[in-house]
Order: sequence, then structure tokens, then C-alpha cells
Amino acid sequence: MRPLIAHIDLSAIQHNYALAKRCAPGREAFAVVKANAYGHGVREVVTALHDDADGFAVACLEEAAEVRALHGTARILLLEGCFEPSECLVASQLRLDIAVQGPEQLATLLASSLPRPLNVWLKLDSGMHRLGFSAAALRAVFPSLRGAAQVAELNLMSHFACADERGHTLTEDQLECFLGLLDLDFDQRSLANSAAVLGIPAAHMDWIRPGIMLYGASPFADLGAAEMALRPAMSLHAQVMAIREVAVGESVGYGATWVAGRPSRIGTVSCGYADGYPRHAPSGTPVLVDGRRAPLAGRVSMDMLAVDLTDLPDVAVGAPVELWGAQLPVDEVAANAGTIGYELLTKVTARVPRKYSA
Ligand SMILES: Cc1ncc(COP(=O)(O)O)c(C=O)c1O
Repeated sequence: MRPLIAHIDLSAIQHNYALAKRCAPGREAFAVVKANAYGHGVREVVTALHDDADGFAVACLEEAAEVRALHGTARILLLEGCFEPSECLVASQLRLDIAVQGPEQLATLLASSLPRPLNVWLKLDSGMHRLGFSAAALRAVFPSLRGAAQVAELNLMSHFACADERGHTLTEDQLECFLGLLDLDFDQRSLANSAAVLGIPAAHMDWIRPGIMLYGASPFADLGAAEMALRPAMSLHAQVMAIREVAVGESVGYGATWVAGRPSRIGTVSCGYADGYPRHAPSGTPVLVDGRRAPLAGRVSMDMLAVDLTDLPDVAVGAPVELWGAQLPVDEVAANAGTIGYELLTKVTARVPRKYSA
């Protein structure tokens, strides 16, 4: 069997969920499990949080249906709302909470004949300019929803653009914009992603929406997950499958981009970009071999990558490798590759077996 496994520690996810709840005492939480629970496996994550989570949040109806099949009673929030009229009906049948993110979705909802009314989360565009109504437009449409036959709870939500950059002025502006609408008679309010759960108590409102923190990665560029007592949930484990001696001036890998400046020992590791390891990770990106750091050497191949083992002379074929996880933060690998932990976690491909521990 190819030695590449994503080990998923479900107790870490439970720990991180509990930490999110402790950050926002008395508030409820939608555990964000879109994109296959950020690559961790939605079935296993929803099952692990079944008795604890107040609700779950997903991106689309297909994901919502999967969560409903796993949990008969939890609130499930459809973050992007319904993409077509027939989805309002299914959302009602599945007893979902839906975002209404623009005038087209609003018109569709109000034209729908539903078996039971939906909890509606009117989305405010507080400054990200991706989805949502402007504050003025939201005020204008509010009366048409209050009391509408299709609407059970009428709730307010918005999303931060820069909560991950602590002290960003847009965050203050967005919070102010949100607070400016609270004279309207909403049933529930929700604004906080992980960064705001951890850093902006004034944004906690009634329902928090933690995503990345559940999986033990940091939403912040300048603050590690461990410093916030988050526990990494995914560890991507491979092995050294071959070792080669490379003379000064010889190259390693596609494009011959890495050239030995000293007599070198190169280990080939059983993980490549077709598994989700970022192809653009540069030479020097840390890889953990037998618990010690070694630098990536040359271009990542489809199924393999190379590490410079020259300073680890005792490493042999079969040595365990951690690409990221419990001992090497995914955020550090991501920063080396010019991206964020979110992307690495969600892009671990289907061919990588997930092995779960409780
Ligand atoms: C609307 C919404 N809320 C909450 C989240 C969770 O964000 P995070 O993973 O940063 O906690 C997301 C994720 O992108 C989102 O789109």
C-alpha cells in the first residue's frame, strides 16, 4: 500500500469546537463543515460533533442534504442561499436555515410556495462586496420579509473581509455597519468567523460561525494555532521511499531547478501535487522526516517530492515523513507556499486515504 495517509484526530475537532464555544460564552455556534469539512470528511466530522454542535454551516444544498442525512435535528445554514427556485422547496423539506444574499434570491423566496416556512438569514454586505444587500437596501426589503408566509425566523448575517489581519480598519467599519442595523427587529444575528470568534468579542452576536479553527489551523497570519491552544486535526503522513547520493553540480527533479552545492543525500517522499501538496511550494519549505526538519529540494512532482537529507545522515528508506500536522503546522507550510492553511487542507485529494482516531 502506498505510504500516504491523512490522519484525522476527531478529538482535536471536538476540543477546538469547545474552545470556540468558550470564546463566546452563551452564544450558539454553526460549525462550518463546507467543502467536505475543510477536507477532513464531512461524515466523520458531523458525527464527531453530533451531540455538541448547535448547528452546521455549508455552502450549497448538496452539502446540506449530506449533513441532514447525518443529523436529523441540527440547524443547518446554507451560507450562499438557493441557486435556483427549486432549491427553496428542497431547503424547506430539509428544514434548513437559508441565507438570502441578494434581490434575485429574495424574489425567488417570496414567489415560492413552501411546505413550511424557513429560517432566513438576510445577508448584509457590510464591506466585503461579495454577497449581500447594502445597509440601505436591507432596510428597504426588511418589511417584505417580516411576516411573509415563507419566513419563520428573520435573522441578520454578514461576513468579515479582513478579520484575520488584526486591527484592520475595514473590520471596525463592517462591525459598525452591522450594529447600525440592529434597531430592526431581527430574531438572531451572526457575524463572527474564526478570526472574530478568537479576536473580536463585540462581533460574537447570537451565533458564531467558526470554520478553520475547528480544524486546528490559525486564521491569523501572525499568530500560530498552538498559541491559541488549538489542536491540529489533520496530519499528512508519508514515507521516504528512496534515497540518492547527488554530487556537487547535479540537479534534482523536474526542470533541474535544484542543484547540489555540496555532496547531498536526497530522499524521495511518497506525496505529490496530485495528493494536494502544493506544487508551487519552493525549495526550502520544511518537511518533517523522522521528527526532524528537512528542506524540500526542487519541484514537487505529481506523486512524489524530494527532500534534502544531507544533514540527517541516519535517515533510511521507510523513515516516517509528516508533510504537515501535529508537529509541523499546516500554516507554516502554507506560508512557505504563498497560500493559507485553508487551501492546503481543502485540497487534499480523494486518493489520499483518511484514517480517523477518536
Ligand atoms: C459566510 C462564512 N461564514 C463563516 C466562514 C468560516 O470562516 P473561517 O473558516 O475563517 O472561520 C466562512 C468561510 O469561508 C464563510 O464563508
